Amino acid sequence: MPKPKKSAIHQTPSKQEQLEVFASEIHSPLLEIVQAENLAWLREQPPASFDLIYVDPPFNTGRRQRLRRRKSRRVEGQSGDQVGFGGQSYRSTLLDERSYGDTHGNYLGFLRERFEAAVLLLTSSASLFVHIDPRESHYVKVMLDEVLGRECFMNEIVWAYDYGGRSRRRWSPKHDVILWYARDPDDYIYNYEAIDRVPYMAPKLVGPEKARRGKTPTDVWWKTIVSPTGKERTGYPTQKPIAILERIVRVHSDPGARVLDFFAGSGTTGEAAWRNGRSAVLVDENPEAIEVMERRLGAAGAPIRVAKPQEAINETIQRGRHLDAERTGE
Ligand SMILES: C[S@@+](CC[C@H](N)C(=O)[O-])C[C@H]1O[C@@H](n2cnc3c(N)ncnc32)[C@H](O)[C@@H]1O
Repeated sequence: MPKPKKSAIHQTPSKQEQLEVFASEIHSPLLEIVQAENLAWLREQPPASFDLIYVDPPFNTGRRQRLRRRKSRRVEGQSGDQVGFGGQSYRSTLLDERSYGDTHGNYLGFLRERFEAAVLLLTSSASLFVHIDPRESHYVKVMLDEVLGRECFMNEIVWAYDYGGRSRRRWSPKHDVILWYARDPDDYIYNYEAIDRVPYMAPKLVGPEKARRGKTPTDVWWKTIVSPTGKERTGYPTQKPIAILERIVRVHSDPGARVLDFFAGSGTTGEAAWRNGRSAVLVDENPEAIEVMERRLGAAGAPIRVAKPQEAINETIQRGRHLDAERTGE
């Protein structure tokens, strides 16, 4: 009798895989997109209503965060505004620009109020993930220790990337910090089996079997940024890679769970939740973020429900009427 192939050994579904199949059969996830100022919204939600919260608040850079999408076209002679390979001239046109304000007079006070409200929404085994930049992370960590209790701090995850220019005056900053807090440090969700594996740095030292499986990541996560030209790009500034969110969602929530992101931006958390059989509520006050999320998550085939304030709905109706009038000449 032929020996079973190595891969056949893994054909028995793991507990995690069985759970995922079970959940996808009994539960169909829903993504809710809410246009709202998040503090007011958070204070209206029922307690213990989310199994996982991830947020990536504005970093208080003092600037407006902008992302301009341009298209370049080759032109004859030197009439363009850019020079490309071989001296060829190109003219660029602006396709669109997305932006949001990133200046907060009392940044820590702004965040504290929101986390005090958000903590009440965590279920007993839920986790909170806060994605922040190294200029603010130490202040935010002390503040979160005060809000949740120091014993609830679990990990400071470093997301390391390697993209863009290098400084000649100091070590180039190429990482963000993701702080993980558990509602209850003795009882929280950590699906070890769902962790994706990464290659060993020196595979020859560990033998072929281990090298083939790879190892579990540490608290330093090497992941490339969202490529400016890749398919993942939505055109929204400060969009985070889906791979980071998928890791958090899979490991820190069970299939069928309800996930919240109240600084949702382009909806990366929603897409990660949907891909992995979880529901999500995505809150952002910026109408451009709502537009990007509707397009992105709709294209991913996710069932979505959008809640906008009445003024925003009225504005859309007015815009529609105006376009109709233009079309019919009335
Ligand atoms: C850093 S971006 C989030 C990016 C997101 N993680 C992604 O992958 O696209 C922060 C978002 O918070 C939103 N925001 C800032 N203050 C807010 C508030 N008070 N209420 C709701 N949304 C807010 C901004 O409009 C922006 O879209």
